[in-house]
Amino acid sequence: MPELNKNNYSGYLQNADTFEWMKSRGAEMRRLMTYYKCAMLEVETKFKVLDAEYSLQHDRNPINSIKTRLKQFSSIMEKLERNHLPFTLSAIEENLNDIAGVRVICSFIEDVYTLADALLNQDDVQLIEKKDYIKKPKENGYRSLHLIIAIPIFLENEKRMMKVEIQLRTIAMDCWASLEHQLHYKKDYEFDSESMEKLYECAQLSTKLDTIMDELRKKNNI
Ligand code: GTP
Ligand code: MG
Repeated sequence: MPELNKNNYSGYLQNADTFEWMKSRGAEMRRLMTYYKCAMLEVETKFKVLDAEYSLQHDRNPINSIKTRLKQFSSIMEKLERNHLPFTLSAIEENLNDIAGVRVICSFIEDVYTLADALLNQDDVQLIEKKDYIKKPKENGYRSLHLIIAIPIFLENEKRMMKVEIQLRTIAMDCWASLEHQLHYKKDYEFDSESMEKLYECAQLSTKLDTIMDELRKKNNI
């Protein structure tokens, strides 16, 4: 069965070639997705351990909640097509860093960095890429700390390094990002400049909220 390439993939799952690809590669793809799921669970556990330890020492939880997600098959296909990559498992593993995603919603800005540093200090965690959209927010006001890491999963006969995308953000950052995502992100139409300004204004408000909360935390030695 030939691999699909961007010339014979229409972007729709009912496409006959895609169906053939799934038939021939389905089992391998399911295996790969299971590996990503294991890596994602591993990272989630690491954060839960850090949260538990921190709460023993400081009597509060740095993590408000953790969300995990595996990228859907259709989104994987779309991303390969968008980036002119071949429809192969190795192209997925080598080029797509966000198949497994872990989002950590933190209480205070300081917690974002404490948790990221603690994770990156672990000797089985390899940092591949770091994007600090808190120190340098995106033009629209988006803030979060993004890490791409590789961690090992231990299978019956082998150790396999898997990539995981981690987004760390405060509750206020998450509030803005979740609502902006619903309003705007990756939609086909463009927002007018007034709407963009309003969104940016909301991002500034969320930054202010984080800053004041962090000042209160410091002032009260929390
Ligand atoms: P993708 O190819 O879209 O996955 O992203 P990228 O390689 O440009 O990476 P980046 O780290 O900038 O963004 C990855 C993820 O961060 C996205 O899939 C979103 O979950 C989140 N994100 C980035 N920018 C925005 C934004 O402006 N608004 C919202 N709501 N989320 C964003
Ligand atoms: Mg992504």
